[in-house]
Amino acid sequence: MNTLILGSGGREHALAWKIAQSKLSDRIFIAPGNAGTRNIGTNLPIGVTDFEHIKTAVIEHDIDLVVVGPEDPLVLGIYDYFQQDKILRNTPIIGPSKAAAMLEGSKDFAKDFMKRHAIPTAAYLTVDANNLAEGMQFLESLSSPYVLKADGLAQGKGVLIINDLAQAKTELTAMITEAKFGEASKKVVIEEFLTGIECSVFVLTDGSNYVILPDAKDYKRIGEGNSGLNTGGMGSVSPVPFVNKAFMKKVEDQIIIPTIHGLKSENLVYKGFIFFGLIQENGNPRVIEYNCRMGDPEAESVIPRIQSDFLELLVAAGNNTLGKHKIVFDERCTATVFLVSGGYPEKFEKGKVITGLENMNNCIAFHAGTAKDIESNAVKTNGGRVLAVTSYGYSLREAINNAYANAENIHFDGRYYRSDIGFDLGAR
Ligand code: AMP
Ligand code: GLY
Repeated sequence: MNTLILGSGGREHALAWKIAQSKLSDRIFIAPGNAGTRNIGTNLPIGVTDFEHIKTAVIEHDIDLVVVGPEDPLVLGIYDYFQQDKILRNTPIIGPSKAAAMLEGSKDFAKDFMKRHAIPTAAYLTVDANNLAEGMQFLESLSSPYVLKADGLAQGKGVLIINDLAQAKTELTAMITEAKFGEASKKVVIEEFLTGIECSVFVLTDGSNYVILPDAKDYKRIGEGNSGLNTGGMGSVSPVPFVNKAFMKKVEDQIIIPTIHGLKSENLVYKGFIFFGLIQENGNPRVIEYNCRMGDPEAESVIPRIQSDFLELLVAAGNNTLGKHKIVFDERCTATVFLVSGGYPEKFEKGKVITGLENMNNCIAFHAGTAKDIESNAVKTNGGRVLAVTSYGYSLREAINNAYANAENIHFDGRYYRSDIGFDLGAR
């Protein structure tokens, strides 16, 4: 069968890499893809929200399954676009309907959903121009630090954590009345601050049945010891040592099952990945956020740990037969170290030649911000986050050491990576 994957990051390279190993797989197309996906399938120069050209590609290339990497097309309703089209209706698409993608598209929707289904999460109040005064009172009732979240998608920048009450009030006003994050912050969710350790849990669901994927932890800040600016993700590890059987049982009973039942009972059609961003406090999980897709850079650690035929699982999610399938994991650990452009997440240059990719040993380099220069045949940097270097090991420590040994051998002008991925989990 032929698959179309939408996206251009390390997550999409990992999806393509795994799908290519399936006995069911014929041709793979990636739109728009990068220099890495080019070696696995055919890159198509189509943007992920260009639904009309995606439709043309599905017809022209006889696509049997579409897998959506990032959230934008899902929140914009690509699932519904397919359902409403006479031709596309027969091509399964892995991702939720527009209404269900609101779990990621609106923090207020997600919090309200969790409240309706008694799913553990932080206490909150949603505020807009009509109840700003109530918002100020709610802030006063909380203790520092204060968490303010823009309701809509804000490219990962819409969450503020502020120590000072007066400043939190000023920021809340700026978000709502001065549209600090544009339309996304016309509504703001104020949350109780949770202390604990974060981890990411993923399921693939057909709307009734689900399989739980390997768990992971990502590292969002640019600097060592989780310092400095937020990024799209500087690395990840899988599994997470504190995510043991007892904790996972609580996650499944208190979070995964109520979420899937909740979606079903509200007729929110969901055939795809649910990403649970969790925090563990005293052994108990609470949901920090939902995403309606796989995580990035978590996917680069999680997908290599899936031993089962992944395409078979995706097809089953698309045609409601996931209940007949089990997922088998590779018992080894994985670690992913992201090589990024100097200056990222602020100003950085592109077009730097990447060398050393041929010297990799016991490692997979998933491409993200890369492009092939057709004239010189060189692979060049084409974004802030450039390459996700993933290695296996029989312990997290071994996986991390292997990933770092390979990261050192790949070069480009200005290359930077964090040297402490996994250290907080005892893997130094
Ligand atoms: P979100 O986009 O909702 O995942 O928030 C981004 C990051 O902010 C999370 O990964 C957490 O590190 C932090 N965060 C969000 N909400 C809370 C909360 N209620 N308490 C503590 N930290 C939070
Ligand atoms: N790694 C976090 C995300 O994909 O949103």
